[in-house]
Amino acid sequence: MKLAIINGPNLNLLGKREPTIYGNNSFDNYLTELKNKYTNIEIEYFQSNIEGEIIDKLQEVGFSYDGIILNAAAYTHTSIGIADAVKAIETPVIEVHISNVTNREDFRHKSYIAPHCKGIILGFGLDSYRLAIEAFIIQ
Ligand code: DQA
Repeated sequence: MKLAIINGPNLNLLGKREPTIYGNNSFDNYLTELKNKYTNIEIEYFQSNIEGEIIDKLQEVGFSYDGIILNAAAYTHTSIGIADAVKAIETPVIEVHISNVTNREDFRHKSYIAPHCKGIILGFGLDSYRLAIEAFIIQ
């Protein structure tokens, strides 16, 4: 199985950024843990702070990979371009969030991407990504 994890803006700062919300672990550390746990799954990782680069990546992997785990971060709440890309591709997408966005500010309650996703996992810290992998495995 081939999965892509795509992270959006500011998620390159995980471990340093608002640790009370996003935790102390860097994504690089966490990715190593995931790769060690799921040795039979090919996991590609991509992070960008730039909306168009995220769209390019979705188009690149979205017709050949088995699944995409997408945390579009702040673009979740603003980007029709990313939502259209998720709608346009064939690979199923699971939207993930580290925090429980439903109990945060109102502007985080709206996701333009969610209606085009297979499902959503949020609020489990970095474990949200592992749960998304498990969701792709069990289907
Ligand atoms: C986030 C939640 C978003 O509202 C926020 O802009 C982020 C991270 C999360 O994983 O909890 O950058 O997607």
